[in-house]
Amino acid sequence: MTRTLDLEPLDATFGAVVRGVKLATLDDDTWQALHAAWLHYALLILPDQHLSRDQQIAFARRFGPLEFEMAAISNVRANGTLRREADNDDVVKVLKGNMGWHADSTYMPVQAKGAVFSAEIVPGAGGQTGFADMRAAYDALDEATRAKVDGLQAYHSLHYSQSKLGHQHQQGSSYSGYGFHDGPVPLRPLVKTHPDTGRKSLLIGRHAHAIPGMDPAESERFLDSLIEFACQAPRVYHHDWAPGDTVIWDNRCLLHRATPWDMTEPRVMWHSRLAGDPVSEAALARAMQGG
Ligand code: OGA
Ligand code: MN
Repeated sequence: MTRTLDLEPLDATFGAVVRGVKLATLDDDTWQALHAAWLHYALLILPDQHLSRDQQIAFARRFGPLEFEMAAISNVRANGTLRREADNDDVVKVLKGNMGWHADSTYMPVQAKGAVFSAEIVPGAGGQTGFADMRAAYDALDEATRAKVDGLQAYHSLHYSQSKLGHQHQQGSSYSGYGFHDGPVPLRPLVKTHPDTGRKSLLIGRHAHAIPGMDPAESERFLDSLIEFACQAPRVYHHDWAPGDTVIWDNRCLLHRATPWDMTEPRVMWHSRLAGDPVSEAALARAMQGG
């Protein structure tokens, strides 16, 4: 039996709002329908969920193994005080880094499958999350650029992307260090094929750099120009959060970013990261030999 979901597609090439579903108590038919819709739309927005920690983790596990269960993406310290932008400690640098278009864990040996992401506390203005459809971006490339990217690869590293914000990971940092992967730098194709849908998409974002065979400055210019082209209407959507909203995104074909907010206001988001399948999301074997 297939359940019909109450789906309202976004005014974009991807994404839909789903109403009338309670993620905390999801039956199997609804899960099947939701999963199929997720693969098709790549981003589902589910308002008014107010998931507890355990409920969010249990829901995330329906997609398969987790890369991590739940991390706070937040400018509120454990003791309740706020990190201000001017503090500019390593957590602030990570929050600001998130404001560049990216896919998650492309800097790890296995790229993430996706995320379950919920809003607990949202600022009065700003702090939206942007999403961009890299399937539609690939499809929209002119023929010459498509032929060019088809043969190219790039390295992905959080050391690279965070160093642009003056962030080098050190002992005693306010940031855990997650993602500052040491060892061979993952090399990934610029064009990937989705393991479940077969659709091609561009794999770019702020962690990508140093296209082999290209001058580093030219590689940076080219990758920047791809992000600029790709992350434009009708391929982007920025979600204005309300507390209790949960979204699920497919990290294999979307980029995302945070947008600025006044850090004298708290913003508390919860991220459960879905582990990528090593068969489809592992970096290219060549890079793992130290390339
Ligand atoms: C993330 C991320 C963006 C945001 O959680 O991986 O990039 O809007 N978040 O906080
Ligand atoms: Mn992210």
